[in-house]
Amino acid sequence: MEITKELEERLLLLNAKYESIGQDLISYLDGLLYCEVTTYWDYIQLDTLLSLQKPKTNFSDEVVFIGYHQITELYFKLALQEFKCLANKKTVDKTEFLLRIKRINRYFEALVHSFSIMVDGMDQKEFLSFRMALLPASGFQSVQYRQIELFSTDLCNLITQTKREELKDVEDIAQLFSFIYWKYGATEEHSGKKTLTLTQFEERYDKELLALAKETQTTNLWQLYVRLNPEDQADAQVMEALKTNDLNANVYWPLAHYKSAVRYLAKTDENIASTGGTNWKKYLPPKFQKRIFYPNLWTQEEKDQWGKGWVEDQILQTIKGA
Ligand code: HEM
Repeated sequence: MEITKELEERLLLLNAKYESIGQDLISYLDGLLYCEVTTYWDYIQLDTLLSLQKPKTNFSDEVVFIGYHQITELYFKLALQEFKCLANKKTVDKTEFLLRIKRINRYFEALVHSFSIMVDGMDQKEFLSFRMALLPASGFQSVQYRQIELFSTDLCNLITQTKREELKDVEDIAQLFSFIYWKYGATEEHSGKKTLTLTQFEERYDKELLALAKETQTTNLWQLYVRLNPEDQADAQVMEALKTNDLNANVYWPLAHYKSAVRYLAKTDENIASTGGTNWKKYLPPKFQKRIFYPNLWTQEEKDQWGKGWVEDQILQTIKGA
Protein backbone atom coordinates (compact mmCIF):
# COMPACT_ATOMS: atom_id res chain seq x y z
CA MET A 1 0.00 0.00 0.00
CA GLU A 2 1.26 3.42 -0.94
CA ILE A 3 1.74 5.99 1.85
CA THR A 4 -0.02 8.86 0.11
CA LYS A 5 0.32 12.49 1.11
CA GLU A 6 -3.17 12.37 2.62
CA LEU A 7 -2.30 9.33 4.73
CA GLU A 8 0.95 10.90 5.86
CA GLU A 9 -0.88 14.06 6.89
CA ARG A 10 -3.34 12.04 8.99
CA LEU A 11 -0.50 10.13 10.67
CA LEU A 12 1.23 13.36 11.55
CA LEU A 13 -1.99 14.79 12.98
CA LEU A 14 -2.61 11.61 14.98
CA ASN A 15 0.95 11.63 16.24
CA ALA A 16 0.57 15.26 17.37
CA LYS A 17 -2.70 14.40 19.12
CA TYR A 18 -1.25 11.51 21.13
CA GLU A 19 2.06 13.24 21.78
CA SER A 20 0.19 16.17 23.33
CA ILE A 21 -1.25 13.82 25.99
CA GLY A 22 1.98 11.91 26.46
CA GLN A 23 0.80 8.79 24.64
CA ASP A 24 2.42 6.55 22.08
CA LEU A 25 0.68 6.53 18.68
CA ILE A 26 1.82 3.00 17.78
CA SER A 27 0.02 1.50 20.80
CA TYR A 28 -3.19 3.26 19.77
CA LEU A 29 -2.78 2.02 16.18
CA ASP A 30 -2.48 -1.50 17.61
CA GLY A 31 -5.77 -0.88 19.41
CA LEU A 32 -7.37 0.05 16.09
CA LEU A 33 -6.08 -3.16 14.60
CA TYR A 34 -7.95 -5.31 17.10
CA CYS A 35 -11.09 -3.34 17.77
CA GLU A 36 -14.35 -4.50 16.13
CA VAL A 37 -16.15 -2.26 13.63
CA THR A 38 -19.26 -0.57 15.00
CA THR A 39 -22.61 -2.18 14.26
CA TYR A 40 -26.01 -0.52 14.34
CA TRP A 41 -27.34 -2.83 17.07
CA ASP A 42 -24.38 -2.22 19.38
CA TYR A 43 -24.30 1.49 18.73
CA ILE A 44 -27.94 2.10 19.68
CA GLN A 45 -27.87 -0.60 22.37
CA LEU A 46 -30.78 -2.37 20.74
CA ASP A 47 -30.75 -5.50 22.92
CA THR A 48 -30.74 -3.40 26.10
CA LEU A 49 -33.47 -1.12 24.77
CA LEU A 50 -35.73 -4.02 23.84
CA SER A 51 -35.17 -5.68 27.20
CA LEU A 52 -36.59 -2.71 29.11
CA GLN A 53 -40.29 -3.42 28.60
CA LYS A 54 -41.07 -5.60 31.57
CA PRO A 55 -44.81 -5.98 32.08
CA LYS A 56 -46.16 -6.96 35.48
CA THR A 57 -49.05 -8.93 33.99
CA ASN A 58 -49.68 -11.14 30.95
CA PHE A 59 -51.91 -8.58 29.20
CA SER A 60 -50.20 -7.76 25.90
CA ASP A 61 -51.46 -4.15 25.94
CA GLU A 62 -49.34 -3.51 29.02
CA VAL A 63 -46.32 -3.51 26.68
CA VAL A 64 -48.00 -0.72 24.64
CA PHE A 65 -48.47 1.23 27.89
CA ILE A 66 -44.88 0.77 29.07
CA GLY A 67 -43.39 1.37 25.62
CA TYR A 68 -45.24 4.63 25.06
CA HIS A 69 -44.26 5.94 28.50
CA GLN A 70 -40.64 5.15 27.66
CA ILE A 71 -40.92 6.87 24.28
CA THR A 72 -42.28 9.94 26.07
CA GLU A 73 -39.45 9.92 28.61
CA LEU A 74 -36.90 9.75 25.76
CA TYR A 75 -38.44 12.82 24.12
CA PHE A 76 -38.41 14.54 27.53
CA LYS A 77 -34.72 13.69 27.75
CA LEU A 78 -34.05 15.30 24.37
CA ALA A 79 -36.01 18.41 25.40
CA LEU A 80 -34.05 18.64 28.67
CA GLN A 81 -30.81 18.45 26.73
CA GLU A 82 -31.83 21.63 24.91
CA PHE A 83 -32.91 23.38 28.12
CA LYS A 84 -29.62 22.47 29.81
CA CYS A 85 -27.60 23.66 26.86
CA LEU A 86 -29.29 27.08 27.06
CA ALA A 87 -29.11 27.25 30.88
CA ASN A 88 -25.38 26.55 30.87
CA LYS A 89 -24.76 29.56 28.68
CA LYS A 90 -26.61 32.00 31.01
CA THR A 91 -26.89 34.50 28.14
CA VAL A 92 -27.66 33.48 24.59
CA ASP A 93 -28.21 35.16 21.26
CA LYS A 94 -31.47 35.11 19.37
CA THR A 95 -30.33 32.53 16.81
CA GLU A 96 -29.42 29.90 19.36
CA PHE A 97 -32.42 30.69 21.56
CA LEU A 98 -34.75 30.13 18.60
CA LEU A 99 -32.96 27.04 17.37
CA ARG A 100 -33.26 25.26 20.70
CA ILE A 101 -36.85 26.27 21.46
CA LYS A 102 -37.88 25.07 18.03
CA ARG A 103 -36.26 21.71 18.75
CA ILE A 104 -38.16 21.45 22.06
CA ASN A 105 -41.36 22.40 20.25
CA ARG A 106 -40.85 19.63 17.69
CA TYR A 107 -40.38 17.03 20.43
CA PHE A 108 -43.59 18.08 22.14
CA GLU A 109 -45.47 18.16 18.85
CA ALA A 110 -44.36 14.60 18.10
CA LEU A 111 -45.73 13.58 21.52
CA VAL A 112 -49.01 15.43 21.11
CA HIS A 113 -49.58 13.88 17.67
CA SER A 114 -48.69 10.39 18.83
CA PHE A 115 -50.81 10.38 21.99
CA SER A 116 -53.57 8.57 20.08
CA ILE A 117 -51.36 5.49 20.59
CA MET A 118 -52.58 5.68 24.19
CA VAL A 119 -56.07 7.04 23.61
CA ASP A 120 -57.07 4.55 20.91
CA GLY A 121 -54.40 1.90 21.17
CA MET A 122 -55.31 -0.21 24.19
CA ASP A 123 -58.21 -2.39 25.07
CA GLN A 124 -60.06 -0.70 27.94
CA LYS A 125 -60.76 -3.96 29.78
CA GLU A 126 -57.11 -4.98 29.60
CA PHE A 127 -56.02 -1.53 30.71
CA LEU A 128 -58.37 -1.50 33.70
CA SER A 129 -57.01 -4.90 34.72
CA PHE A 130 -53.26 -4.44 34.35
CA ARG A 131 -53.28 -0.96 35.92
CA MET A 132 -54.20 -2.53 39.25
CA ALA A 133 -50.81 -4.24 39.24
CA LEU A 134 -49.10 -0.83 38.99
CA LEU A 135 -50.54 0.90 42.07
CA PRO A 136 -49.58 3.46 43.29
CA ALA A 137 -47.28 4.33 40.35
CA SER A 138 -48.47 7.15 38.08
CA GLY A 139 -47.01 9.31 35.31
CA PHE A 140 -47.42 11.95 38.02
CA GLN A 141 -44.06 10.64 39.24
CA SER A 142 -42.24 11.58 36.02
CA VAL A 143 -39.30 13.60 37.31
CA GLN A 144 -38.32 14.74 33.82
CA TYR A 145 -41.76 16.35 33.39
CA ARG A 146 -41.15 18.34 36.60
CA GLN A 147 -37.62 19.26 35.47
CA ILE A 148 -38.94 20.58 32.15
CA GLU A 149 -41.31 22.85 34.07
CA LEU A 150 -38.52 24.21 36.27
CA PHE A 151 -36.29 24.82 33.25
CA SER A 152 -39.11 26.71 31.51
CA THR A 153 -40.32 29.35 33.92
CA ASP A 154 -40.07 31.14 37.26
CA LEU A 155 -41.37 29.14 40.22
CA CYS A 156 -44.14 31.67 40.87
CA ASN A 157 -45.84 30.50 37.67
CA LEU A 158 -45.96 26.91 38.92
CA ILE A 159 -47.69 27.73 42.19
CA THR A 160 -51.13 26.24 42.58
CA GLN A 161 -53.64 28.65 41.09
CA THR A 162 -55.55 29.38 44.31
CA LYS A 163 -52.33 30.46 46.10
CA ARG A 164 -50.64 32.44 43.31
CA GLU A 165 -51.96 35.85 44.33
CA GLU A 166 -51.35 35.28 48.06
CA LEU A 167 -47.74 34.19 47.49
CA LYS A 168 -46.82 36.65 44.76
CA ASP A 169 -44.32 38.58 46.93
CA VAL A 170 -42.68 35.55 48.54
CA GLU A 171 -39.07 35.13 47.46
CA ASP A 172 -38.12 32.10 49.55
CA ILE A 173 -37.78 29.31 46.99
CA ALA A 174 -38.24 26.50 49.54
CA GLN A 175 -41.52 28.05 50.71
CA LEU A 176 -42.76 28.54 47.15
CA PHE A 177 -41.70 25.01 46.23
CA SER A 178 -44.00 23.57 48.92
CA PHE A 179 -46.95 25.22 47.13
CA ILE A 180 -46.09 23.93 43.68
CA TYR A 181 -49.26 22.84 41.92
CA TRP A 182 -48.55 19.11 41.78
CA LYS A 183 -47.90 18.82 45.52
CA TYR A 184 -51.16 20.61 46.10
CA GLY A 185 -53.04 18.47 43.58
CA ALA A 186 -52.01 15.29 45.36
CA THR A 187 -52.92 16.48 48.86
CA GLU A 188 -56.39 16.11 50.38
CA GLU A 189 -57.77 19.59 50.91
CA HIS A 190 -59.64 18.96 54.18
CA SER A 191 -57.15 16.65 55.95
CA GLY A 192 -53.85 17.84 54.43
CA LYS A 193 -52.98 14.18 53.86
CA LYS A 194 -50.65 13.49 50.94
CA THR A 195 -51.24 10.57 48.56
CA LEU A 196 -48.76 7.69 48.73
CA THR A 197 -47.82 8.49 45.11
CA LEU A 198 -46.74 11.97 46.21
CA THR A 199 -44.91 10.94 49.40
CA GLN A 200 -42.91 8.33 47.49
CA PHE A 201 -42.06 10.84 44.79
CA GLU A 202 -40.99 13.40 47.42
CA GLU A 203 -38.78 10.89 49.19
CA ARG A 204 -37.04 10.05 45.95
CA TYR A 205 -36.80 13.47 44.27
CA ASP A 206 -37.70 16.40 46.56
CA LYS A 207 -34.12 17.35 47.45
CA GLU A 208 -32.97 17.20 43.86
CA LEU A 209 -35.96 19.15 42.53
CA LEU A 210 -35.67 21.87 45.17
CA ALA A 211 -31.98 22.32 44.26
CA LEU A 212 -32.97 22.56 40.60
CA ALA A 213 -35.72 25.06 41.44
CA LYS A 214 -33.10 27.29 43.09
CA GLU A 215 -30.70 26.94 40.21
CA THR A 216 -33.23 27.62 37.46
CA GLN A 217 -34.54 30.86 38.94
CA THR A 218 -31.82 32.60 36.96
CA THR A 219 -31.40 30.17 34.05
CA ASN A 220 -34.91 29.14 33.03
CA LEU A 221 -36.15 29.91 29.52
CA TRP A 222 -38.09 32.98 30.63
CA GLN A 223 -35.04 34.44 32.40
CA LEU A 224 -32.93 33.87 29.29
CA TYR A 225 -35.60 35.55 27.18
CA VAL A 226 -35.68 38.69 29.33
CA ARG A 227 -31.90 38.92 28.98
CA LEU A 228 -32.15 39.09 25.17
CA ASN A 229 -31.82 42.63 23.85
CA PRO A 230 -35.19 44.48 23.56
CA GLU A 231 -35.24 44.17 19.78
CA ASP A 232 -34.80 40.39 19.92
CA GLN A 233 -37.38 40.09 22.68
CA ALA A 234 -39.90 41.79 20.43
CA ASP A 235 -38.98 39.61 17.45
CA ALA A 236 -42.11 37.92 16.09
CA GLN A 237 -40.42 34.55 15.60
CA VAL A 238 -39.04 34.50 19.13
CA MET A 239 -42.40 35.36 20.66
CA GLU A 240 -44.16 32.83 18.47
CA ALA A 241 -41.73 30.06 19.43
CA LEU A 242 -42.15 30.77 23.16
CA LYS A 243 -45.93 30.91 22.89
CA THR A 244 -45.95 27.63 20.98
CA ASN A 245 -43.78 26.15 23.72
CA ASP A 246 -46.29 27.33 26.33
CA LEU A 247 -49.25 25.90 24.44
CA ASN A 248 -47.50 22.59 23.75
CA ALA A 249 -46.50 22.04 27.38
CA ASN A 250 -49.53 23.51 29.10
CA VAL A 251 -52.47 23.00 26.76
CA TYR A 252 -51.92 20.54 23.91
CA TRP A 253 -49.95 17.83 25.72
CA PRO A 254 -52.07 18.03 28.91
CA LEU A 255 -55.24 17.84 26.82
CA ALA A 256 -54.04 14.90 24.74
CA HIS A 257 -53.10 13.21 28.01
CA TYR A 258 -56.40 14.14 29.68
CA LYS A 259 -58.22 12.62 26.74
CA SER A 260 -56.61 9.26 27.55
CA ALA A 261 -57.65 9.54 31.21
CA VAL A 262 -61.21 10.28 30.09
CA ARG A 263 -61.13 7.45 27.57
CA TYR A 264 -60.14 4.82 30.14
CA LEU A 265 -61.25 6.17 33.49
CA ALA A 266 -64.51 8.04 32.83
CA LYS A 267 -67.66 6.14 32.12
CA THR A 268 -71.12 7.64 31.88
CA ASP A 269 -72.28 5.76 34.99
CA GLU A 270 -69.21 5.86 37.24
CA ASN A 271 -65.74 7.34 37.53
CA ILE A 272 -62.74 5.16 38.14
CA ALA A 273 -60.06 6.17 40.64
CA SER A 274 -56.63 6.93 39.17
CA THR A 275 -53.53 5.01 40.26
CA GLY A 276 -51.99 8.21 41.66
CA GLY A 277 -55.08 9.10 43.67
CA THR A 278 -55.65 12.69 42.51
CA ASN A 279 -59.07 14.12 41.81
CA TRP A 280 -57.99 13.83 38.19
CA LYS A 281 -61.04 15.45 36.57
CA LYS A 282 -60.23 18.64 38.46
CA TYR A 283 -56.47 18.20 38.48
CA LEU A 284 -55.61 17.44 34.86
CA PRO A 285 -57.56 19.91 32.67
CA PRO A 286 -55.51 23.02 31.78
CA LYS A 287 -58.57 25.24 32.17
CA PHE A 288 -58.59 24.49 35.93
CA GLN A 289 -54.83 24.46 36.54
CA LYS A 290 -54.19 27.51 34.33
CA ARG A 291 -50.50 26.73 34.26
CA ILE A 292 -48.85 29.31 32.01
CA PHE A 293 -45.07 29.47 31.64
CA TYR A 294 -44.90 32.92 30.03
CA PRO A 295 -47.95 34.90 31.27
CA ASN A 296 -46.47 38.21 30.10
CA LEU A 297 -46.77 37.10 26.47
CA TRP A 298 -50.54 36.57 26.60
CA THR A 299 -53.46 38.99 26.78
CA GLN A 300 -55.81 38.82 29.77
CA GLU A 301 -58.50 37.37 27.54
CA GLU A 302 -56.17 34.64 26.28
CA LYS A 303 -55.27 33.77 29.85
CA ASP A 304 -58.94 33.70 30.87
CA GLN A 305 -59.68 31.33 27.98
CA TRP A 306 -56.65 29.10 28.70
CA GLY A 307 -57.36 25.49 27.70
CA LYS A 308 -61.01 26.09 26.87
CA GLY A 309 -62.66 25.35 23.52
CA TRP A 310 -60.56 22.36 22.64
CA VAL A 311 -61.68 20.70 25.86
CA GLU A 312 -65.34 21.08 25.14
CA ASP A 313 -65.01 19.81 21.56
CA GLN A 314 -62.56 16.96 21.96
CA ILE A 315 -63.14 15.65 25.44
CA LEU A 316 -66.91 15.65 25.31
CA GLN A 317 -66.72 13.72 22.04
CA THR A 318 -64.55 11.10 23.75
CA ILE A 319 -66.92 10.72 26.70
CA LYS A 320 -69.89 10.30 24.36
CA GLY A 321 -67.99 7.74 22.26
CA ALA A 322 -66.69 5.76 25.29
C1 HEM B 1 -54.05 5.42 29.36
C2 HEM B 1 -53.06 6.28 29.55
C3 HEM B 1 -52.98 7.20 30.72
C4 HEM B 1 -53.86 7.44 31.74
C5 HEM B 1 -55.25 6.85 31.94
C6 HEM B 1 -53.25 8.42 32.61
C7 HEM B 1 -53.83 8.92 33.76
C8 HEM B 1 -53.26 9.88 34.57
C9 HEM B 1 -53.89 10.44 35.73
C10 HEM B 1 -55.28 10.10 36.24
C11 HEM B 1 -53.03 11.35 36.26
C12 HEM B 1 -53.24 12.22 37.53
C13 HEM B 1 -52.41 11.66 38.64
C14 HEM B 1 -53.06 10.44 39.24
O1 HEM B 1 -54.01 10.60 40.00
O2 HEM B 1 -52.59 9.32 38.92
C15 HEM B 1 -51.86 11.37 35.43
C16 HEM B 1 -50.79 12.21 35.62
C17 HEM B 1 -49.71 12.26 34.78
N1 HEM B 1 -49.43 11.40 33.75
FE1 HEM B 1 -50.71 10.06 32.94
N2 HEM B 1 -52.01 8.75 32.12
C18 HEM B 1 -51.80 8.02 30.97
C19 HEM B 1 -50.68 8.03 30.18
C20 HEM B 1 -49.57 8.79 30.42
C21 HEM B 1 -48.38 8.78 29.61
C22 HEM B 1 -48.15 7.95 28.35
C23 HEM B 1 -47.50 9.64 30.18
C24 HEM B 1 -46.12 9.91 29.67
C25 HEM B 1 -45.07 10.00 30.46
C26 HEM B 1 -48.14 10.21 31.34
C27 HEM B 1 -47.58 11.16 32.16
C28 HEM B 1 -48.24 11.78 33.18
C29 HEM B 1 -47.74 12.96 33.87
C30 HEM B 1 -46.45 13.71 33.57
C31 HEM B 1 -48.67 13.26 34.85
C32 HEM B 1 -48.63 14.46 35.80
C33 HEM B 1 -49.40 15.60 35.13
C34 HEM B 1 -49.51 16.84 36.01
O3 HEM B 1 -49.00 16.84 37.12
O4 HEM B 1 -50.14 17.81 35.55
N3 HEM B 1 -49.38 9.68 31.46
N4 HEM B 1 -52.02 10.46 34.42
